[in-house]
Amino acid sequence: MLVLGIETSCDETAVGVVEDRLRLRADVVASQVDLHARFGGVVPEVAARAHLEALLPVVERALDEAGVRAEDLDGVAVTHGPGLAGPLLVGVAAAKGLALGLDVPLVGVNHLRAHVEVAQLEHGELDGPLVALVVSGGHTSIVARDATGTMREVGATVDDAAGEAFDKVARYLGLGFPGGPAIDAAARTGRIDALDLPRPMLDAPGYDLSLSGLKTALVRTLEASDAAGTTPAVADVAASFQEAVVDVQVAKVMRAVVDLDAPTLVVAGGVAANSRLRARIAAACDAAGVRAVLPSPRLCTDNGAMVAAAGANLLAAGVVSGPDLEADPGLLLATRAPA
Ligand code: KG4
Ligand code: ZN
Repeated sequence: MLVLGIETSCDETAVGVVEDRLRLRADVVASQVDLHARFGGVVPEVAARAHLEALLPVVERALDEAGVRAEDLDGVAVTHGPGLAGPLLVGVAAAKGLALGLDVPLVGVNHLRAHVEVAQLEHGELDGPLVALVVSGGHTSIVARDATGTMREVGATVDDAAGEAFDKVARYLGLGFPGGPAIDAAARTGRIDALDLPRPMLDAPGYDLSLSGLKTALVRTLEASDAAGTTPAVADVAASFQEAVVDVQVAKVMRAVVDLDAPTLVVAGGVAANSRLRARIAAACDAAGVRAVLPSPRLCTDNGAMVAAAGANLLAAGVVSGPDLEADPGLLLATRAPA
């Protein structure tokens, strides 16, 4: 079964092809990062127009890379939410046209589910219950999948997404956009305890987290040290901030893993490329006897293969979307579970 997946929910125009749910055949990503860099963030209207221009050539490149013809496809999957309205619309409209023209089933995929299930392309079947930390520029969610395959969000950031926090602090430090990779790199030579930053909501029950207070605390701390003439090195600031963000995420997600007795933890989304988060998750899972599933950074950031993989899972389970499939910017995974 060959499934093509289309991802346009944010700023990457991405198309992947997956065979028999587990085999990656193609993964083509046209990033708009350069286009948005000068604005310091993604501009939805600019993104939508760029998707419109890039999408069909990217579909063609993905088919080429997979070595298949459009007529060989058995299904078309598309991210229909959550994400930016205009960008989502472009992907959904294209997927509908493609599925209709090829006379194959269409399936709408939740972007968060896709981030989690992409792991099956590198780690094989992800059987049974699992907990996932989905951390990107738009989301910071703790997701639980039960034995029946139902995915629910059990926790989320109450303010900024983790990637957003990285991006804002990087901008403040003059490190550029996107900020996550820049902070990750700068932090390598810094001290994690150079700045005394809070760990917001660590003691609050449940799995929600908060990150905007951390950014504010960092700005205050730097203002105070500037005034005192003791401005810390950028590497130290980056390392201390990154450690605080990672601490909060690791604590909350490991709490969910233990409470829900999950044998597997998947970390996904752009921020899952963070080297410190990966190391800390691996160590925490090791100590807890839990399988840590960390997709390679390329599959952590937005891509089309993740949509193809999750779409293939849905199609294999008999889930199909009708021609009335709509872009849904606020799409939820399932009803939010009580913590
Ligand atoms: O999943 P993604 O590609 O797009 C969204 O759906 O948002 O995630 C992009 C986010 C950006 O905020 C970027 O700064 C962050 O992921 N990111 C990182 C790293 N690489 C990307 N954050 C921390 N450390 C990294 N190495
Ligand atoms: Zn994403």
